[in-house]
Amino acid sequence: MSTPSTSTRPAPSAAGRMAAVNEMTRLLRLLFEVERDFVRSAATLVYRVGEPELKYLVCQHVWESAGHARFLRERGRELTSFGTTDTVRDPIRRIFSEAIGGGGANPLVIVAGFYGVLKPALLAAYRHYLKVTDPLADWPSKKLVEEFIADEERHQREIAPYLAGVEAREWKLHLLQALDDLGGWLGQETRLPLAAGYVWQHEQTPYAHPATCNRGKYPVCSSVFGFDPQEDPIVRPWLTDPKTDARVIRLMVYVWLMMEMDAIDYLATVFPDTPHAPFDLHYDLARHLWDESRHSQFGFRQLPKLGVDLMTVEHSLDLYNILVQMPPHERYAMMTMEFEANSFPTKATVMDRVRELNDFEADTLLAFDRNDEQNHVRYGHRWLPEMMAMFGETRPTEEFVNATREKFNRLAGLYGGRTPHSLPREQRLTGDRIRRLAGVA
Ligand SMILES: [Fe+2]
Ligand SMILES: [Fe+2]
Repeated sequence: MSTPSTSTRPAPSAAGRMAAVNEMTRLLRLLFEVERDFVRSAATLVYRVGEPELKYLVCQHVWESAGHARFLRERGRELTSFGTTDTVRDPIRRIFSEAIGGGGANPLVIVAGFYGVLKPALLAAYRHYLKVTDPLADWPSKKLVEEFIADEERHQREIAPYLAGVEAREWKLHLLQALDDLGGWLGQETRLPLAAGYVWQHEQTPYAHPATCNRGKYPVCSSVFGFDPQEDPIVRPWLTDPKTDARVIRLMVYVWLMMEMDAIDYLATVFPDTPHAPFDLHYDLARHLWDESRHSQFGFRQLPKLGVDLMTVEHSLDLYNILVQMPPHERYAMMTMEFEANSFPTKATVMDRVRELNDFEADTLLAFDRNDEQNHVRYGHRWLPEMMAMFGETRPTEEFVNATREKFNRLAGLYGGRTPHSLPREQRLTGDRIRRLAGVA
């Protein structure tokens, strides 16, 4: 006598038993890859758009998207079959690489591609997820996805004013065709295979960073730091001279903070240059980027309140112009191990002087800036060795940092100091003008 039915039923398989979970995990995995590659590619918008408020907004969205990716990965790892790597599959990566666009295109058209096609498709993908998952069994994912939907809807509202009147029909159609070939990010729509004549533009013209960053309508210069009160807004010796009026120091440090726009512009270039970085690296870079964008906003928002016309404040371009000539691990080394690591003593003196003014808001902004900067140096210690390894750098970190500093100084001679003042000295914010604004002169 044989046991009934075992010979006629298919062998039970673990995959079949877990099919419902596996199907939702597959979708979560796709969503993770989309969010993480948005982070890599949308970072290229930061230095290409000219309006500071738009730079700040993109930094914020990049950070929020990194957060989405992180929570998706955390949830995904609770489920079987999510996978252990952070890799983005080629069909997804190819679309984001295309969205970055070639050189020469209007940056707002590129922004419209991301926000008018790729992000609405992500929103549709999240809505699809909610529709097909079981609200009780998969409640943890559902809660996340509901939040991300609200974020994506807000991102659309926040970007809208910058895209009003931007003519991007052709470019959006181009990206839409690529996306239709997948049937949407989750393959949830009918697939419309690509026409035979479709040309991937990033394969024809590989993306390269612009030689300088865009500051739109604002006047520019090489550097805001100097020694001549008739020429430069931040007069170096004044920052630490006990005889300098604290109101002058406050204005100078707000100019310094606003110019952290340099940091967001050159840090953003590191994302597309490290496409195979572990996601945790890009996650910390995204946080770093967003922190710097808030620091820059400290200055951008406070200076007008203290009587400064922002159209008289020249933006310094040297750091971007020099660093973009160096490979990404050297850029990151200069940022974290040189500029940030060495900024603490002067900033401490500045903070103590500003406290004389009983300006609680200024004290708060400077304290948070200092706290954030300590984290940035920590990120540097954590990630610089990994980035060095990625680019085949085998010297000990300290030796590499010293050599990089020397290289930077050499390159500064070639690529620095090349941006003439947009404004004559009578019109621009200088140390002397700051003294008058502070009521000191
Ligand atoms: Fe900063
Ligand atoms: Fe920083």
